[in-house]
This record gives sequence, C-alpha cells and structure tokens, in this order.
Amino acid sequence: MALAVRGLTKTYRAGFTAVRDLDLVIADGAFFGLLGPNGAGKTTLIGAVCNLLRPTAGEIRVFGHDHGSREARRLVGLAEQDVTLDRFIDAEEMLVFQAGYYGLSRRDAWKRARELLDQFDLSAKAKSRRSELSGGMQRRLLLARALVHQPRLLILDEPTAGADVELRAELWSYIRRLHGAGTTVLLTTHYLEEAEALCDEIAVLRDGAIVARGSADALRERFDARDIGELYLRVLESARTTAAA
Ligand SMILES: Nc1ncnc2c1ncn2[C@@H]1O[C@H](COP(=O)(O)OP(=O)(O)OP(=O)(O)O)[C@@H](O)[C@H]1O
Ligand SMILES: [Mg+2]
Repeated sequence: MALAVRGLTKTYRAGFTAVRDLDLVIADGAFFGLLGPNGAGKTTLIGAVCNLLRPTAGEIRVFGHDHGSREARRLVGLAEQDVTLDRFIDAEEMLVFQAGYYGLSRRDAWKRARELLDQFDLSAKAKSRRSELSGGMQRRLLLARALVHQPRLLILDEPTAGADVELRAELWSYIRRLHGAGTTVLLTTHYLEEAEALCDEIAVLRDGAIVARGSADALRERFDARDIGELYLRVLESARTTAAA
C-alpha cells in the first residue's frame, strides 16, 4: 500500500472537525483523484499525511511506515495548494536547499536542481525570485521542488489551479510520465475532466468523509450519470440526502 489512513479525525483548535473517522487506502502505483467541494477536508487530509498538522486521532502509514518517520517523509513529495515558495531566494537555490534538506551532497543538489529547472522549462528563470515568476512558473517550480528527492508517492493539491491551457496540458503529460515510471500519485482538483482523464480511481469527499469511491466508469454506472460532472453532483446530492435522513 502506498497510503493507508485509518480512523483519521482532525478537529481544529477552534473546535471544528474537518475530517471525521476517515479510512483511505491507496495502492502502490495508483493514480488517485480526491474530489470534493471547497472545505470538504482535502487539504486537511493531505496536511495530516505530510505532517503539516497533527491529527486528533487515527493512524497513517506510507508504504508501511508511520507517516511521521524519516522513511515515510523521504517517500512522499508534496506540491501544496498554496504557493509556499520562499520570497528571498531564487528558483535554483530553492531546489538546492530542498535537495540539501533531503541529504543530497552540494554537488548532487546543484545537479538535481539544474536537471529539474531544465525539465520544467525554468532554466532561464534559475536566478529569479518568486515575485519575478509568473503564476504558472511558480506552479511548475512547486512541482519541481516536490520531486527533488524522487518521491514514490507524489501528492498534488490542485496542481493546475490557475494554470493556462497549455501549462495544464504540460503538467498533465509530465505527471503521467512520472506515474508511468512507477510513482503513485494522489491528486486533488476541481477540474472534473482532469480527474477523469488522469485518475484510475477517484474518491469524493464531503464534510470530512468519503462519500463515494471507485473508477469513474464504475461510479458513473452506479449513479446512472452521463458524465463526470453529473456524477459528481449526484454523489454529493445522495450524500446530502443520506446525511439528512
Ligand atoms: N487552521 C484551521 N483552523 C480552523 N479551521 C480550519 C483550518 N484549516 C482548515 N479549516 C477548516 O476545515 C475545513 C476543511 O478545509 P480544507 O482546507 O481541508 O478543505 P479543502 O477540501 O481542501 O477545500 P478547497 O477545495 O477549498 O481547497 C474548512 O471548513 C476550513 O475552514
Ligand atoms: Mg484545499
């Protein structure tokens, strides 16, 4: 299993429960899409997996290791929803620092940074700081940074938010290639067609709980939906009806 989440609950300090007793297992090699409306708990779930916040209850394992362990941290790469790029260092340094953080030697770190800048078509911007990069370039750099240590589980929280059509297509093909090479991918997105085209399995989260899970095809059949948009709305509608009952 790439990811095994059991009984995860996160209640924020203010007393609000964003994720409630959630179970989620993602197989090694999967391309998994996590969908759900604003506030459903997607980023909270990811934050718990990546040790950015402390779960209130539950267990999280990454390739069999407790998510807090060194092994688990090394195996996961995260491109966050918020563009969390340092404002005072340039793109190349950002990648070098990240590589250093994961224990690469100085030489290997610079080599890896240049490789990634090249792959993401950012070589011309190596010496640019965050404020000198366009929004799409910042997204690409965020993804490059998530990949510095060649994670086996890549978590992408709305990687294509704000990306233009061309960049989105580029990011897709890049992520597809990584997946083809054996990386397990967990993706959140509000672009339903994107989820359908990329993911072999999807789950819909609502109010901190998973309300449907399966392949897009199987779910479409189960919910008698013509397309992914209709499916999504029906899943949420049926969850609402169940919750109200
Ligand atoms: N630090 C926090 N303190 C209190 N409540 C929080 C905190 N962070 C998130 N929440 C709440 O938890 C809920 C889930 O938020 P989360 O960011 O996980 O949603 P999401 O599914 O990622 O939504 P989006 O699609 O908008 O990114 C929301 O109601 C949000 O207001
Ligand atoms: Mg989010």
